[in-house]
Amino acid sequence: MSLEIRGLQWGHPEPGGGWRQLFEGFNLTCATGEFVVLIGSNGSGKSTLLNLIAGTLPALAGSVCLEGRELIGLSDHRRASRIARVMQNPLDGTAPDLTMAENLRLAECRRRPGLRWSGLLGLHPDARDRRRYQELLEELDLPFRDRLDTPVGQLSGGQRQTISLVMASLGEPRLLLLDEHTAALDPRAEAKVMALTDRLVRRLQTTALMVTHSLEQALHHGDRLVMLHDGALIGDWSAQERRQFSPDDLRAFYGNVRVDERQERRG
Ligand SMILES: Nc1ncnc2c1ncn2[C@@H]1O[C@H](COP(=O)(O)OP(=O)(O)OP(=O)(O)O)[C@@H](O)[C@H]1O
Ligand SMILES: [Mg+2]
Repeated sequence: MSLEIRGLQWGHPEPGGGWRQLFEGFNLTCATGEFVVLIGSNGSGKSTLLNLIAGTLPALAGSVCLEGRELIGLSDHRRASRIARVMQNPLDGTAPDLTMAENLRLAECRRRPGLRWSGLLGLHPDARDRRRYQELLEELDLPFRDRLDTPVGQLSGGQRQTISLVMASLGEPRLLLLDEHTAALDPRAEAKVMALTDRLVRRLQTTALMVTHSLEQALHHGDRLVMLHDGALIGDWSAQERRQFSPDDLRAFYGNVRVDERQERRG
């Protein structure tokens, strides 16, 4: 197994006083290379779960193992060599004043500690780096070949998310965390970024966790669909099982009732 989350505990103080225990012994296991789509209502804990895995939020207890190695206790900085993330906001995750090639180089240095020192000598990509990036963009069929020297701040939101994804894929991450990474995009850009997401997950053979509110994505992307509510897994379906659902079925699952109970009631 690639990702094994066991007995995860996390909570937060409530605004009016008191404590809300959001994750109470949470468990999730994902196979190597599995592409898991995570859905659930606002506030159900999807982003928090990704933050706990990435280490940007410390878990109170429990274990998060990636390919047999415990991540709890490691700084997010140390986890960064194995985990890549793409967030919702196209402004996050890239340095707007740096060119596309410089951003790609930065992402590579971040994920490969050995490169960090050479990065100190020249974060600037050299001719060989540029050639590699060019080849990669061509391989991925991305229409950016002649834009390596364009500052990323001059790109559209869709182009930025595309570059964020390519950056996330550099350095062979073992886990890809995507938090509504297409939510700010128009439908055409969304389709392109999702097609690239599918290609990259397959190419890297990395385990991926993708949060989305798009029912279309939930029904048509990934190998497995899981649903979170109030910090608990209330649904877990393989791609095959998911085929029986319509968007309306999924819509009906958003709520307080356990999905299996709801399914029983539906007969
Ligand atoms: N650092 C924090 N401190 C206190 N409360 C937090 C913190 N992070 C998250 N929460 C709370 O935890 C709950 C889960 O939030 P989270 O952002 O994970 O939800 P989500 O499922 O990602 O929702 P959305 O679909 O709106 O993005 C929310 O009630 C939120 O207010
Ligand atoms: Mg969220």
